[in-house]
Amino acid sequence: MLWISKHPFVPLTLSLFSAALIRAALVQRASVCNGHSELCDRSYGNVTIVGAHDSYAVGTNNLAVNQDYDVTQQLNDGIRMLQMQAHNQTGTIQLCHTSCVLYNGGTLEDYLTKVKSWMDANTNDVVTLLIVNIDNLPPTQYSPIFQKVGLDKLSFAPTTSPLAASGWPTLGSLIDAGTRLITFLDNAADLSAVPYLIDEFTNIWETPFDVTDPAFDCSINRTKGDTSSQMYLINHFLDTIVFGNPVPDVAKANVTNGVDGPGSLGAQVSTCVAHHSRPPTFLLVDFYEFGGGSVFQVAANINGVSYSPTSPIATPKPTTSGSSNTTGGNGGGNTGAGFVASPSHCVASLFVALSVLVGALSVV
Ligand SMILES: *[C@@H]1O[C@H](CO)[C@@H](O)[C@H](O)[C@H]1NC(C)=O
Ligand SMILES: *[C@@H]1O[C@H](CO)[C@@H](O)[C@H](O)[C@H]1NC(C)=O
Ligand SMILES: *[C@@H]1O[C@H](CO)[C@@H](O)[C@H](O)[C@H]1NC(C)=O
Ligand SMILES: *[C@@H]1O[C@H](CO)[C@@H](O)[C@H](O)[C@H]1NC(C)=O
Ligand SMILES: *[C@@H]1O[C@H](CO)[C@@H](O)[C@H](O)[C@H]1NC(C)=O
Repeated sequence: MLWISKHPFVPLTLSLFSAALIRAALVQRASVCNGHSELCDRSYGNVTIVGAHDSYAVGTNNLAVNQDYDVTQQLNDGIRMLQMQAHNQTGTIQLCHTSCVLYNGGTLEDYLTKVKSWMDANTNDVVTLLIVNIDNLPPTQYSPIFQKVGLDKLSFAPTTSPLAASGWPTLGSLIDAGTRLITFLDNAADLSAVPYLIDEFTNIWETPFDVTDPAFDCSINRTKGDTSSQMYLINHFLDTIVFGNPVPDVAKANVTNGVDGPGSLGAQVSTCVAHHSRPPTFLLVDFYEFGGGSVFQVAANINGVSYSPTSPIATPKPTTSGSSNTTGGNGGGNTGAGFVASPSHCVASLFVALSVLVGALSVV
């Protein structure tokens, strides 16, 4: 080390160098974002993610469910947007499908607790919540739950809204800042009341929902903003009409979720790119694991990264006939009005299911 003193410039260079090292160590820039180093420098609005439609509506043999696996498995497998419908059940926010009699997926608090645990264990991932605020609850009704669970501290609060697709922070900066949760409310958002519950439709436009035609056009269905610069979401879940109501067409789910071919997710993305000159940011799907990861392959293709899961994703749960399952399988609990076919309860269940279904399932 003695030689340093003979060269006046070396100590200066060394100290600058070590200052840079210390700064780098303190800032800890994320080098992998949502599984890929290539995504760190990209704006949030410029990265396509797959969303689970009615992510809490989990179960089998039930017309009111849209997923086979619960939120933790969804996140493990690569889902990065969680869509949900929030209902005011005697003052408690519960995740129900159309009505809490038809399907009750448990409290928002229990659900968000699972999201928080997952995010704590996966610190280089940005997660998005899309809350359908069906009872028009004020955002201040949501914030105590976010605080209790600890998700308020992980939430991104924009200084201004709306933001253009290109105006969002990069995934790397969201991760570096520790604000990795982006939450949209479909109505009643008020940043002055709760700065991290962001208005959906001024920031995002959507294609039609409850689609029964596998051609999946890419028309602009709902927006409150400038669609030339907003992010957009495609509702790529195929329904079929049962007793006059749209329900998931599970039999076609692996084709619907496919990378290419008529009716596939990949095909709708191509249609959308042709019409709107850029790809969607959000791909909302039912039964995401049908297709064996094809939905994630589509997103990876858009993002220009490789899809190579470290472990195989979940496999579709077979629908069993002649048996029932009203537990939902996710601990959330189903109030039992699902469409079931257990011989002993057949008539009663059918009656309840029919009476609830009629006129009830028209809201997604
Ligand atoms: C992100 O930007 C790149 C470069 O402009 C573009 O090729 C890509 O399609 C964009 N992706 C999304 C989801 O906007
Ligand atoms: C939620 O439901 C409770 C009980 O039904 C009711 O008293 C309360 O006004 C509702 N809250 C809102 C914001 O509608
Ligand atoms: C949006 O889609 C819904 C359901 O697909 C449809 O009933 C409605 O008419 C559409 N609205 C517009 C403005 O396209
Ligand atoms: C969809 O699943 C069915 C039943 O498992 C299978 O026979 C069919 O080949 C699958 N289709 C595609 C496109 O993966
Ligand atoms: C019902 O759900 C439980 C819990 O997820 C599961 O163990 C069981 O296999 C399911 N039964 C049927 C018939 O799907």
